Amino acid sequence: METLELQLRQIRLEAEGIASFELARPDGQALPAVTAGAHLDIHLPNGLRRSYSISSAPDIRSHYRITVKRDAASRGGSNWLHDNARVGMHIVAGEPRNNFALDESARHHVLIAGGIGITPLLPMLWRLNALQRSWTLHYSARTPGQMAHDAELRSLACHAGAKVMRYFTAQGERMKLREIVDGSPANSHFYGCGPAGLIDAFTEATQGIAPRHVSLERFAASEAPSAGGYAVRLARDGRQFDVPPGQSMLDTLLAAGLDIPYSCMQGICGSCSLRVLDGLPDHRDECLSEEERKSAQVVMPCCSGARTPVLVLDL
Ligand code: FES
Repeated sequence: METLELQLRQIRLEAEGIASFELARPDGQALPAVTAGAHLDIHLPNGLRRSYSISSAPDIRSHYRITVKRDAASRGGSNWLHDNARVGMHIVAGEPRNNFALDESARHHVLIAGGIGITPLLPMLWRLNALQRSWTLHYSARTPGQMAHDAELRSLACHAGAKVMRYFTAQGERMKLREIVDGSPANSHFYGCGPAGLIDAFTEATQGIAPRHVSLERFAASEAPSAGGYAVRLARDGRQFDVPPGQSMLDTLLAAGLDIPYSCMQGICGSCSLRVLDGLPDHRDECLSEEERKSAQVVMPCCSGARTPVLVLDL
């Protein structure tokens, strides 16, 4: 996987416990183009790799901005950035990838954000304004002080056809997702990003909508990872490895010395994607579409397993 050598150019407090980090090339050269909804896999100096949505406008090539919430349940990524990142620090990142793309053909766009779930939606709003498409953002935070990028949203909402609805849960305000979905114009595309409870409610409210008009991004996988108990075979040299109960396919492959990119380890980011040549994957990820799952041609080894005794991988 191609990597980018980046330098931390700016750190900004965006809301209580939420900071943004601007990353640019040290020589100031333009960065690879990104599409709205893309994420960046950051290789932190403490050895951790983490995926963060790019929150800057997609036509900005001078830097990528990521917005990160300090997380009490952090496994070391978010808190490390909040506590240790300093302007000038060098950080390696993978090239941006997108599992949460904007449907640019839709007539109207309805975006649902909970808390830090605003991050992949912000570039979408920039892009929709550039395309002169109408959109409504429903954005919930616990308090006004915890609503990140609110000033930017006010400026984005000045555009014709743009609207932001804010909900403060500490004041008892809740999104009525069913009413939002039912009251949206025909041919709307619906996007959801936020904590598990909000995404579950979003999934339920959009059940009657064709899946091609619904996109969501979770912070954590909703399914338990595969339990192992099958084998993987490498098509190129024929080596076969047992994936024991309690171990992931990715752990098995890494332990065998294979160099496989990975980041979230939860089936969310898509970094570890591998091609399947034979056998049936047991999909437990959140990033493959229904069609990709049915095709059985790709698997996320960090969380998914096999429904057949052996899975043959394009490795
Ligand atoms: S490491 Fe993120 S999907 Fe596997």
